[in-house]
Amino acid sequence: DYFVFRVNGCITSAESVLITQQSHEELCRVLNSNKVRSNQQKLVVVSVSPQSRASLAAKFQLTPLDAARKLTAFFKKLGVHSVFDTTFSRNFSLLESQREFVQRFRRQNEDKKALPMLASACPGWICYAEKTHGSFIIPYISTTKSPQQVMGSLIKGHFASQQHLTPDQIYHVTVMPCYDKKLEASRSDFFNPEYQTREVDCVITTGEVLRLLEQEGVALSDVAPAPLDTMFSSVSEEELLSHSGGGSGGYLEHIYKYAAKELFGIQVAEVQYKPLKNKDFQEASLEKDGKVLLQFALAYGFRNIQNLVQKLKRGRASYHYVEVMACPSGCLNGGGQIRAEGVSSKDFLQQVEKLYESVRTEVPELNPRIEELYEQWLGGTDSEKAGEMLRTQYHAVEKTNTGFNIKW
Ligand SMILES: *[C@@H]1O[C@H](CO)[C@@H](O)[C@H](O)[C@H]1NC(C)=O
Repeated sequence: DYFVFRVNGCITSAESVLITQQSHEELCRVLNSNKVRSNQQKLVVVSVSPQSRASLAAKFQLTPLDAARKLTAFFKKLGVHSVFDTTFSRNFSLLESQREFVQRFRRQNEDKKALPMLASACPGWICYAEKTHGSFIIPYISTTKSPQQVMGSLIKGHFASQQHLTPDQIYHVTVMPCYDKKLEASRSDFFNPEYQTREVDCVITTGEVLRLLEQEGVALSDVAPAPLDTMFSSVSEEELLSHSGGGSGGYLEHIYKYAAKELFGIQVAEVQYKPLKNKDFQEASLEKDGKVLLQFALAYGFRNIQNLVQKLKRGRASYHYVEVMACPSGCLNGGGQIRAEGVSSKDFLQQVEKLYESVRTEVPELNPRIEELYEQWLGGTDSEKAGEMLRTQYHAVEKTNTGFNIKW
């Protein structure tokens, strides 16, 4: 499926260059030049995604917490200054998506393209949407930044000022389950012209971290763990990565529960999915007295996305929200994740899913640190700065006739 996106001409050769410019070799080059040039050092920060952490934990048979501690130690030994977790920035992406959804829901009568709101965190999907359905589809796409790009704003904004540095004095690397995250990082929307720097300077995939480990001749399981970093002096490690109880799911579940409460005063403990033919296309609806109040869906993989877009074009998509992801099974199965060895890829993916879900995720509204940051860093939820730091935009790309692409 992922491959189908590529062969259909989704990625241009200019974009391939942007992707290959970001690699673990590039990170090593920056770390080495830090050692040589003492006066022009950059502070190197690595932000690890929870999907990558789960993949590495499965590979080395570790708990997510151990994997995080060992990764922190490994990166620091290479010369990285701080290692963070994009789970933290996901709080902002979820909160913004929830609020955006409720606002769109309330203006659905005036704005025909307010709904369905389509998720925006998957760069493969965004790439496809901008190129093949441009101005038709863009208004439906949530303007909320992905956790990677919110982390970029946090590191180059809040963290930089905490450290008394300018954004360009920090080299920010993310570890992601997907190659297209490199493409996302290099979008002009995420470039700071004043300081000539990007929110995320370099994206490396989970597989590239594995190569880095191999290059250094170490197994992650043998690395002595280090304490986890946090931007807040008062946060305990347990708070960061405790694993008691199940995970609370992704965008769909958070937005669903929030909207049920906010729009209809209904408290939903657990989102019920309809029995389905296809685990990559699921529906969940909220009903009361036989009336459908909310209709949500998740559409993963090329075929399901294509069907969804066709339905939208014919005006036959009755959804209010759709969580769209380019990869079947979502990001845990991303093209940049570690490949199974010795076990079937299905079994390995199941292990990764189990590890990922073992980390408790609390409701983002209840996180006092996030609330604090909205106040102190952004000046409130509706401020101009919050808009700049947490939202983005999309651009319709003209179709070029290269002959082979786009048969959607
Ligand atoms: C919010 O951030 C905290 C870390 O401060 C994390 O433990 C939690 O899982 C995050 N919540 C979500 C829903 O991602």
